[in-house]
Amino acid sequence: MQRLTVEGIRQEAQLREMLREPAQSLRRGGLVAFPTETVYGLGANALVEEAVRRIFEAKERPRDNPLIVHIAQDDQLRDVIDESQPLHEDAVRLMRAFWPGPLTLLLPAGARLAPSVHPGQPLVGVRMPDHPVARALIAEAGVPVAAPSANRSGRPSPTTADDVEADLGGQVDWLIDGGPCPIGVESTVLLLEPDCARILRPGGVTQEMIASVIDRPVLYAADAFDASSAPLAPGMKYRHYAPNARVHVWWGAPEAIDEAMRAFLLDAVQDDEVDEVMVPALIAPDDFVRRFGWALADERQAALPADAYAEELARHLYRLLRAFDRAGATDVLVHGVDPTHGVGAAVMNRLYKASAGRVRWVG
Ligand code: TXA
Ligand code: MG
Repeated sequence: MQRLTVEGIRQEAQLREMLREPAQSLRRGGLVAFPTETVYGLGANALVEEAVRRIFEAKERPRDNPLIVHIAQDDQLRDVIDESQPLHEDAVRLMRAFWPGPLTLLLPAGARLAPSVHPGQPLVGVRMPDHPVARALIAEAGVPVAAPSANRSGRPSPTTADDVEADLGGQVDWLIDGGPCPIGVESTVLLLEPDCARILRPGGVTQEMIASVIDRPVLYAADAFDASSAPLAPGMKYRHYAPNARVHVWWGAPEAIDEAMRAFLLDAVQDDEVDEVMVPALIAPDDFVRRFGWALADERQAALPADAYAEELARHLYRLLRAFDRAGATDVLVHGVDPTHGVGAAVMNRLYKASAGRVRWVG
């Protein structure tokens, strides 16, 4: 693996120059991990079946889980979607409003795509990332890039180059280090149905944002916050985003969250059945940590800025879950956020999956 650091460089011509070799590798069938505004992606030429297969092997990803194809310019859509079918007018509106950005649209798949990109699916997920490094790499490669998150299947997505290296270091040809990802949770995956738009995976582009651009109702897939419903996005049925530690989430009033967390810790201490010693970790707003006097070891406690807590939680969640695993935590206690507002939906959806449903609202 060759690792190339381009952190802080934003100028397109300079980036394209620096990324010439990895882009060439990508075009010729190599695997290149690269930063996007959401999480790091594991990229391969979406038109080359051999290359796409390497993604599934490297990640140990189930073969029936389709990939998202990334483009840098509108005209690349030609290589990706079936142009004999007219583009849905709402799809065009959404592209204009949110591309480049963290919105993946499911569109009729074109015949040139490698079959493994969308196994058994007539639709393909497409997005134009809003990260200078991703865009320069794709533009320089000159081909659409199939890229799932660059984690080993089932693990939290990587939001730093070190996290990619920890999971896939031996498997990729190039790792492009562009610094930490600004959003931190994956893109919104949206399906346009005849009467509605359905969010199969909540992400950086929120329900409110989508609803402001199109007329039809914008609904969530039933499994977004409910473990008993079958997921519509094939990938959402697998154990996901999960660290080794158990994750527990409470949201609601701060006093009630504090009380519930303390009761939980106390219960664990008093439970004779459990012979494992609990090593707790905490993620909460800094004012909550101060106000209630939480003082776990530094490497197991994250006090995030309270004034934009939902965004901060999104940005740092996966990195913290990985760090807490390294610190030997057995249980991660998370101060949740309101899932009905903004990026809160995406964070709580990931927490829901990571905690296997251990999310509680406390009044
Ligand atoms: O932000 C992101 O979307 C990141 C970065 C790298 O762009 N990529 C990412 O890819 O999260 P991945 O493969 O980890 O997640 C793709 C999700 C999966 O849940 C998959 O099942 C769903 O999108 N998906 C992809 N194509 C689909 C299709 N044709 N029909 C239904 N769901 C699809
Ligand atoms: Mg993923």
